Amino acid sequence: MVSLASEVKAVIEDVPYLSANLSNVSAVIFSHYDKLNWAGFYLMKEGKLVLNSFQGKVACTEIKVGKGVCGTAVEKDETLVVDDVHKFPTHIACDSASNSEIVIPIHLNGEVFGVLDIDSVSFARFSVTEKEELEEAVKVIEEYLPSMR
Ligand code: SME
Repeated sequence: MVSLASEVKAVIEDVPYLSANLSNVSAVIFSHYDKLNWAGFYLMKEGKLVLNSFQGKVACTEIKVGKGVCGTAVEKDETLVVDDVHKFPTHIACDSASNSEIVIPIHLNGEVFGVLDIDSVSFARFSVTEKEELEEAVKVIEEYLPSMR
């Protein structure tokens, strides 16, 4: 089976455009896993997270650092795996079908550039192996980010 990281590399390695790459990576992730209802990116703009390329339903456009699963992942600068979003105090419900979520920070030049956010309709959808697989895919994005515009 083809790894997620190699699928991501295949779609971005020859493309120097950020929005084109994040759009295709959203599509790759959305079709790679089952039971997802949202997969996409928020990027840091003017000190907050702003919605970028994604697959899924309409989502909130701005998230403050420290708020929601996304803003908390930025504040802590670590991957957050939330098995039941209804138990996460500041969770922001963009799609009421979401029950679990994973958020992985993306870095550029030593700072948080944005996050990869994935939601599932299943509780506890994201295993430790999948967390590692997604972190590996984010490392590929980070490797190519400096050459994107
Ligand atoms: N649930 C996220 C908000 C973004 S949507 O899931 C697309 C959060 O709590 O940060």
